[in-house]
Amino acid sequence: RIPEPCALVIFGVTGDLARKKLLPAVYDLANRGLLPPGFVVLGFARRDWDHGTFEQMAYEHAKAHARTPWREEVWARLAGNLKFVGGAFDDDAAFDTLDRTLDELRDTHGIGGNAAFYFSIPPAAFPTVLKQLARTGMADNEKCGGWRRVVVEKPFGTDLSSAKALNDLVDDVFTGQDVFRIDHYLGKETVQNIMALRFANSLFEPVWNSKYVDSVQITMAEDVGIGTRAGFYDATGTARDVLQNHLLQLLALVAMEEPTSFDASEIRAEKLKVLRAISLPKDIHEGSVRGQYLQGWVAGERAKGYLDEEGVPEDSTTETYVAVRLGIQNRRWAGVPFYIRAGKRLPRRVTEVAVLFKKAPHLPFNPTDVEALGHNQLVIRVQPDEGVVLKFGSKVPGTTMELRDIAMDFQYGEAFTEQSPEAYERLVLDVLIGDRTLFPDAAEVEQSWQVIDPMEEAWQGTKPEPYRSGEWGPRAADEMLAREGRHWRRA
Ligand code: BG6
Repeated sequence: RIPEPCALVIFGVTGDLARKKLLPAVYDLANRGLLPPGFVVLGFARRDWDHGTFEQMAYEHAKAHARTPWREEVWARLAGNLKFVGGAFDDDAAFDTLDRTLDELRDTHGIGGNAAFYFSIPPAAFPTVLKQLARTGMADNEKCGGWRRVVVEKPFGTDLSSAKALNDLVDDVFTGQDVFRIDHYLGKETVQNIMALRFANSLFEPVWNSKYVDSVQITMAEDVGIGTRAGFYDATGTARDVLQNHLLQLLALVAMEEPTSFDASEIRAEKLKVLRAISLPKDIHEGSVRGQYLQGWVAGERAKGYLDEEGVPEDSTTETYVAVRLGIQNRRWAGVPFYIRAGKRLPRRVTEVAVLFKKAPHLPFNPTDVEALGHNQLVIRVQPDEGVVLKFGSKVPGTTMELRDIAMDFQYGEAFTEQSPEAYERLVLDVLIGDRTLFPDAAEVEQSWQVIDPMEEAWQGTKPEPYRSGEWGPRAADEMLAREGRHWRRA
C-alpha cells in the first residue's frame, strides 16, 4: 500500500502535534518505504522561515520522536522534499503562494494535482483556512486535476450545534469522501485488534451479549496533568476532550454488530447504530461523576492541583475526571451497564476495555474454597503493555480444591516480531491512500455529541468532586458502582 505521488500540506507545522507526531510519522513512513518517490511535505505557519530553517526544525523533531531506527540516508532523501510557506491564515498572498507552489511541484516533483491539507491548528482558525482553500480553488479536485483531501483534528466542535456548523462548513468546500476526521485512538493497533478479536474468531462472539456479560468497563487513565494546555483544557474538560471521541469510539467497536464487510461505510454504519442506541443514566447526577485533581503525588513526584496549574482560573469548575454509566438499548446489550471513566493525574497511564462475564450459576465446591473467585474477564489492554488478558478461576496447586483467579496473558511484544506503527503513522498513510475506514464520519461525530450534550447540560452549575493526584479519581465514582454491587477493576 503505497500512495500515489502527492503533497502533504500541514497548517500549523510549528505546533506540538506537527513536531511530535506528524513529522516523525512522515519519517517513519519513509523509513518503512511506504512513501511514493514524488512526495512532498509543505509546511505552513506564521514564521519568516526559508525551506532550510523548516528542514532543520523537522530534522530535530523527527529524529527525537521517530518510532523506527534513525537512518541519515532516509532523512537526506526526504529533506529535499520539505518545503515551507510562511504567512497568517488571513493572508491572501501567502495562500496564493501555496497554490503556486503546489502547481510548481507538479513539474518538479511529479505530484500531479494530489494534495492533503492537514489542519493542525486551533478550531477557531478552521473557517479562515477553509475560505482560503475555497477562494484559491485549492480544494477543487477537478480544477487541480487530482485529489484534494482535508484532515481535521479533534475536537470536532464543542457540542452538537457547533459540530454541525463545522461539518456544514467543511462540506461547502470539500466533498464528504475527501474529509478525514482524526480520532487517533482508531489508529492504535490494539484498537483495530478489537475487530479482529471479535470477528476473526468463533470463541468470543457467542458470549458477547447480555446473556453472558455482566458489565463492561472502559478506562482511560493518564498520570499526566494538563501540561501547558490550560487554555484549551479549561474550556473543554474531560468529557469533551476524550469521552466524546476516543472512549465512545472504543465503546462502539466493542458493542457493534459484525459489519457485512470491512468496507469503511459498512463499519461506520455499524458504529453509528450503536452510538444511536446509547442511553444515559435516568438521573445523570446519580449515574455520572465529575472530578478535579488536587495536589498530590504521582509516580513518586509531587503534582500540583488543577487550580494551581498555570492559566487555570482559581474558581474553575472544569472536570479532569469523568465516570459515567451508559446503557445500550438493543437486544444484544439490554441491561448491561457500560461503565466508562477517564481522568488525568491518576496513578498510572493505562487504557483498557474489560468485559466482565457473569459468575457461574452454580459452584459445586466448598464455599470457602471459592471465596477468591471474581468474574471471568476479558481485558483488551490498549496501552501500555499492549495485549489481551483472559482472567478465569483455577485450582491452586496443593492438596485441597482451593480456587483462585489467574490470567492468561497475550502481549504484543512477545507474540509478534513486527513492530506496531504509531497511530499517526497509520492514519497519515491512510489519508494519503484515501482509505477512510479508521476515520469517524460526520454522523458519528454528531451522534457522539448527542450523548455528551445532555450530560454537560445536567452538570451546569455543579462543582466537580475533588480527588488527590495519584488516586483513582473521586470516591463518588467508587460509590456509583458500589450502589450497583460492583467495583472498578484494578486497571
Ligand atoms: C488527546 C487528548 O486526544 O489524547 C489529551 O486531547 C490526551 O488530553 C491524549 O492526553 C491521550 O492520547 P494517548 O494516545 O497518549 O492516550
